[in-house]
Amino acid sequence: MIRVKDLSFSYTRKPYMENISFAVERGEIFGFLGPSGAGKSTLQKILIGLLPNYTGSVAVNGEEVRRKSKGFYEQIGVDFEFPSLYEKLTARENLRFFSSLYQKRGDAEALLEAVGLLADADKRVSDFSKGMKTRLSYVKAVLHDPQILFLDEPTSGLDPSNARVLKDLILAERAKGKTVILTTHNMYDATELCDRVAFIVDGKIRALDTPRNLIMSKGASKVVYTYLEEGREKTAETRLDRTSGDELLRALIRENRLLSIHSGEPTLNDIFMEITGRTLQ
Ligand SMILES: Nc1ncnc2c1ncn2[C@@H]1O[C@H](COP(=O)(O)OP(=O)(O)OP(=O)(O)O)[C@@H](O)[C@H]1O
Ligand SMILES: [Mg+2]
Repeated sequence: MIRVKDLSFSYTRKPYMENISFAVERGEIFGFLGPSGAGKSTLQKILIGLLPNYTGSVAVNGEEVRRKSKGFYEQIGVDFEFPSLYEKLTARENLRFFSSLYQKRGDAEALLEAVGLLADADKRVSDFSKGMKTRLSYVKAVLHDPQILFLDEPTSGLDPSNARVLKDLILAERAKGKTVILTTHNMYDATELCDRVAFIVDGKIRALDTPRNLIMSKGASKVVYTYLEEGREKTAETRLDRTSGDELLRALIRENRLLSIHSGEPTLNDIFMEITGRTLQ
């Protein structure tokens, strides 16, 4: 659905993105994961045709984006980083307006119900909370039933139960064969939702793989244990597959001196730090 080859882009004279290449297949949830200012929204804006002054090739749904046709947006749904809704209109009026821009009309009422906004549908958007706007903004993006969805931080500002609702809706889109590109700096969302993830820092893709492969590629699972030595608590760790060779651990077990012991896989955040030297926040 998306083919990016040797993409370069700059806001100023200084090149910002250079020679980025990747592809996204139909039915995939693909994540851009990176800290603030990494270039996630910029990359998404290039893909949806808002920044046409790029070099290289960016093909979305078979069209070179800088030469996109009139019908380009019929198959593309965009949920922007900052909700772009008419504050003076009600939720229903907003959806009626945006729906009129497309040939295909979805079931606004069903979508409002799915995101828990049906009871507030006749309220002005100016009276909505941040999380309500985020949910309405999602409905606006999917209303014309597009083949490709671009979601910029889709769960930001949502409480855990509404974030769950939205994540389930995104997974349901994939189940229908839709392609989803989402940006996030939330490693849990990326791990749960994305089939593949690109680590983005300073306008560059630093790694690209499934969350599972990224997690397995570096640091093996660890065992962390604590014990007392001369009255002070000490911590040590060892790889899960090397515990039998850890003389200290063996001695502590023999002498029943362990205070605590637990094992854990590295998280996507650990891997991100290892590969990029940066944290996600
Ligand atoms: N319109 C613009 N003109 C000039 N520079 C810009 C513009 N928009 C973004 N930038 C710069 O490009 C870089 C990447 O910004 P971008 O919005 O893509 O980051 P992001 O990864 O989406 O961050 P966040 O997680 O905070 O949303 C930043 O250094 C930003 O200052
Ligand atoms: Mg952004």
